[in-house]
Amino acid sequence: MHVYIEDLSKHVGEKVELKGWVYNSRSSGKIKFLLLRDGTGLCQCVYFKGECNPEAFEKFQDLTQESSVTLTGTVREEKRSPGGFELGAESLEILHRVEDYPITPKEHGTDFLMNHRHLWLRSKRQHAAIRVRHEIISSIRDFFNGRGFTLIDAPIFTPSACEGTSTLFETKYFDDKAYLSQSGQLYMEAGAAAFGKVYCFGPTFRAEKSKTRRHLIEFWMVEPEVAFADLYQNMELAEQFVEYIVQRTIKNREEELKVLERDLSKLECVKAPFPRVHYNEAVQIIQKENPNFVDGDDFGAPDETIISSKHDRPVFVHHFPTAIKAFYMKQDEKNPAESMSCDLLATEGYGEIIGGGQREDNLELLTGRIDEHKLNQDDFKWYSDLRRYGTFPHSGFGLGVERTVAWICGLPHVRETIPFPRLYGRHYP
Ligand code: 4AD
Ligand code: MG
Repeated sequence: MHVYIEDLSKHVGEKVELKGWVYNSRSSGKIKFLLLRDGTGLCQCVYFKGECNPEAFEKFQDLTQESSVTLTGTVREEKRSPGGFELGAESLEILHRVEDYPITPKEHGTDFLMNHRHLWLRSKRQHAAIRVRHEIISSIRDFFNGRGFTLIDAPIFTPSACEGTSTLFETKYFDDKAYLSQSGQLYMEAGAAAFGKVYCFGPTFRAEKSKTRRHLIEFWMVEPEVAFADLYQNMELAEQFVEYIVQRTIKNREEELKVLERDLSKLECVKAPFPRVHYNEAVQIIQKENPNFVDGDDFGAPDETIISSKHDRPVFVHHFPTAIKAFYMKQDEKNPAESMSCDLLATEGYGEIIGGGQREDNLELLTGRIDEHKLNQDDFKWYSDLRRYGTFPHSGFGLGVERTVAWICGLPHVRETIPFPRLYGRHYP
């Protein structure tokens, strides 16, 4: 019977069949070891001369890294084996013998590995990071589904900009043109008026001509939007959400995080409530360490690190200047120069993982903002309708999946947090 390596604990003492790829093999006289990889785990398979099929013992010398094989044997507990079980192997069939697998245990440069991303995914650390990503994505869905949110899929082809015109990807749409979505937010606002609590979760696109460790051209974002929630309720939802993702992931993906050598003590304390810092206060903190920072500007990565280094858990910065935020951000009624916005900065210098806030619900003010941003009123006619027909206070945010995976895994660059990253200057493979 074919069994997956992760299920071996249920088959101790039984004869099973394993199918997979050679991770490593070595011989010493009468005993040969094959470390098998099947995508669900690693298992040491031991061939003893005299106990296994003599043909298998002969074939063993042909094994090369990543050759595909099937084999049979009996499962036994073995503390020293990865996963805690090993196979007393009997047979061995080589499905495909590999010559010159390009990725060897020696050091390879990043460019080489990125060109071989389709194979690099098989490596232990890459495998671990993508499994953590999977857990994070499952926890995102469970969090919102468990709280009565309705999933509203936002379109990918859009008629206009949501997050500024400088990073739009333009594409032909028959005789017209369209843009790839930068954010599903505007559609979630329509969804919130129809369903109360909604979220979308999909790929988003930004033509950012920057090579940084935080920027992808195509990234995944989850965007909840809640009717009748203000900025403060929005921050409460965001902190409960981030606590849930982190705590569930470190519980369910301990093995993978161990492979990635993540210091879990830095994540265990990620519990709500998170500190909240007003933009003006943040400026004072930053200027003490970076005197060149100009009050009114957006933060650079080092400025974010100055703020986050003061705390053991993520920190909100709220009330950014209206002038540096998107057109849809609500102005503070007490001071229109400040917006009802919030960013969440992760710990350990990982920077902004969430951006969001309360939306402008006053038609006149919104129309003015669309003009100020030199956007076309006609493109936003449908969006303005939400203020014409039963306008309502509402808030939401977007969490970038890859930056969250990088932070939880402790990876220095987002390129390892998504199976096939699209970067400035790379869309292969
Ligand atoms: O701050 P941003 O641009 O906010 C929005 O798009 C809002 N419309 C979301 C909302 O309120 N519904 O992006 C939100 C998050 C960032 O905090 C970051 O985590 C991620 O999306 N992000 C990126 N991740 C990887 N590569 C990029 N180029 C990213 N741009 C934003
Ligand atoms: Mg942002």
